[in-house]
Amino acid sequence: RSLRLPVSAISQNSTTAESKDALKRALAKRAVGLVKSGMVIGLGTGSTASVVVEELGKLIRQGQLKDIFAVAANYQSRILAKQFGVKTVDLNDVNAIDIAFDGADEVDFNKNLLKGGGAAHTMQKVIDSVAKECVILVDHAKVVRQLGSTSPVPVEVLPPAISPVLRQLATLGGVPEVRLALRKDGPVVTDLGNMMVDVRFSNGIQNAAELERRINMIPGVVENGKRIFCSSHATFLHIHCVVGILS
Ligand code: 5RP
Repeated sequence: RSLRLPVSAISQNSTTAESKDALKRALAKRAVGLVKSGMVIGLGTGSTASVVVEELGKLIRQGQLKDIFAVAANYQSRILAKQFGVKTVDLNDVNAIDIAFDGADEVDFNKNLLKGGGAAHTMQKVIDSVAKECVILVDHAKVVRQLGSTSPVPVEVLPPAISPVLRQLATLGGVPEVRLALRKDGPVVTDLGNMMVDVRFSNGIQNAAELERRINMIPGVVENGKRIFCSSHATFLHIHCVVGILS
């Protein structure tokens, strides 16, 4: 099932930060409209997923949604959920997730995603794969013909294995770089205690499924940010791709 969302409230051909925020808000409002009382929700992370948390919190506070519990992908989402009055539970304490909301860094026309800009993709992939339905919220700028066009492939790596993993990633034709913290005073450390490597593919990614498999076969790799929503998965994972159109 695919949901394409024209957002008439957003001014045409406008890509200002303000209009992008308005678009995220409109997408989030539409997405939380799919939630019903009693559901267990999966929460991704990032600026788009954060707006979903806010909108979910509003519906809970207004009494329109009751008995909602959320499984958050990382500490940031968990803290945000608490702040907006969305109760959280651990993934291991629930048998299923009814619906998961997440953003993405890139989406191709087959709904393959590139995730991990926020270094939280490992648990996002676990949560999204457990969810009966998964709603990915992206604007038109994230939709690409070929994955890897604008973003690198994030790879979460066990710190003691960083050098051999970097060498192996280079043999796949990419240019791997350890992700540094904003102040560049050390590497980014994920919530799971690992390092992040971003791998750039100058010609984009030719065969996304094969690349995902090969990266995840490298000993020391925890998970990569390539996520495949191929049609064979559609029988057990229902994807809504909510795309807001700005132009
Ligand atoms: C974090 C992610 C995010 O979903 C992705 O980076 C998109 O973020 P934003 O909504 O801020 O553009 O995968 O690991």
